[in-house]
Amino acid sequence: MDRILIRGGKALKGNIQIGGAKNAALPLMAASLLTGETLSLSNLPHLADISTMAKLLAELGVDISMDGDASNGGNDGRVFAMTAGNLDNTTAPYDLVRKMRASVLVLGPMLARAGRARVSLPGGCAIGTRPVDLHLQALQQLGADIELSEGYIEARAPTGLTGAKVTFPMVTVGGTENLLMAASLAKGETVLANAAREPEVADLAHCLVAMGAEIDGIGTGTLTIQGKDALHGAEYAVVPDRIETGTYAVAAAITGGDLTISGARADLSEAVNKVLTSAGVDIAPTNDGIRVTRADGGLRGVDIMTEPYPGFPTDMQAQVMALMAVADGASMMTETIFENRFMHVPELCRMGADINVHGASAIVRGVKKLSGAQVMATDLRASVSLVLAGLAAEGETVINRVYHLDRGYERLVDKLSACGADIRRESE
Ligand code: UD1
Repeated sequence: MDRILIRGGKALKGNIQIGGAKNAALPLMAASLLTGETLSLSNLPHLADISTMAKLLAELGVDISMDGDASNGGNDGRVFAMTAGNLDNTTAPYDLVRKMRASVLVLGPMLARAGRARVSLPGGCAIGTRPVDLHLQALQQLGADIELSEGYIEARAPTGLTGAKVTFPMVTVGGTENLLMAASLAKGETVLANAAREPEVADLAHCLVAMGAEIDGIGTGTLTIQGKDALHGAEYAVVPDRIETGTYAVAAAITGGDLTISGARADLSEAVNKVLTSAGVDIAPTNDGIRVTRADGGLRGVDIMTEPYPGFPTDMQAQVMALMAVADGASMMTETIFENRFMHVPELCRMGADINVHGASAIVRGVKKLSGAQVMATDLRASVSLVLAGLAAEGETVINRVYHLDRGYERLVDKLSACGADIRRESE
């Protein structure tokens, strides 16, 4: 298994190109199941999760041809042309679903188009139980017949789905996405209330509109969908990754560096930018992104609570905690989206951070310096927070279980080392 070695203390300087958002790309790929025509997606990031989704779609009979290459340091991303001719196989098997929870996003489109879907239950994962009950309840409200049997979700709608008013009891990104796709091919009108407003949900909605869907309220908490008999092919470019953007903004801040982050959409990161600015980081708009520098006065602790969009994203909590670990003063960080999302805390403490967890809150008391250590993490964002801490720490940090990073950060080591980080990857 590969590991990453970092010698901290180098201020990062230079330019980093942001790729397409993983969390937008995954539902967009699943949307290819909604039509027999070709959906062509560009700006797809080169990531393990994207390959897992491609494998799953291929298993379901989607013909995928690849074009474009993100591995050359360019910013063109990959292009996938996906054609779901006939959905002969409607089973998403355990082996693929267990690798990635987002596999459950094939449920809504497959059920709506083929009238049946069999999807392995994703099960628990490292950041809490993360059930899919809200997806299932909402699909039932559209008339789906759903049973759980032998670890699989068995969903049927032999005469198609029918529009309904669905009010989500809590905001769910994946649930909203599954329902948006299903409702696009349902009979009549569907209203999704308390829908997720994340930019990745809006990206999916815009792509569905390009495929012929009729959706009102995009970007708001109420989505109204007029179902269509069929959707058609389209070409669509994936929105830039706001979490990758925020992660590199923290890299600039934690090392006292100066990074231009190209291709970033500052308007999608307002909550994160506000926190970083209050912490003493300068963020200025550029022609095609942002420039992040650390203001002269050093870093200050800021209190943070994760919330659904437009609130502060849970996917940035671990990275900003690494930053708060070296800020002046204390910071209270409260996680309201996922239980058990503080797995990075003991590892940051091994690097000299002073952090105490009380229930859903962590009190971070800033220390002058972190020191390098052997660490490992059990999820994507936790892993990258250790990379960020390592960039600022004295001495060598060794990060094990690098495969988590490959799920969500394209060419992380290359991008950081091009900006002066002393970082390398090696096979054990
Ligand atoms: C998506 C993102 C993930 C991000 C999360 C919250 C993708 C591929 N992943 O995950 O990176 O951290 O949004 O912004 O886009 N819940 C239920 N029942 C359900 C569904 C969700 O109880 O049926 C709970 C979850 O356990 C969690 C909360 O609702 O506590 C939010 O989860 P959700 O928004 O659905 O997250 P994901 O779509 O899985």
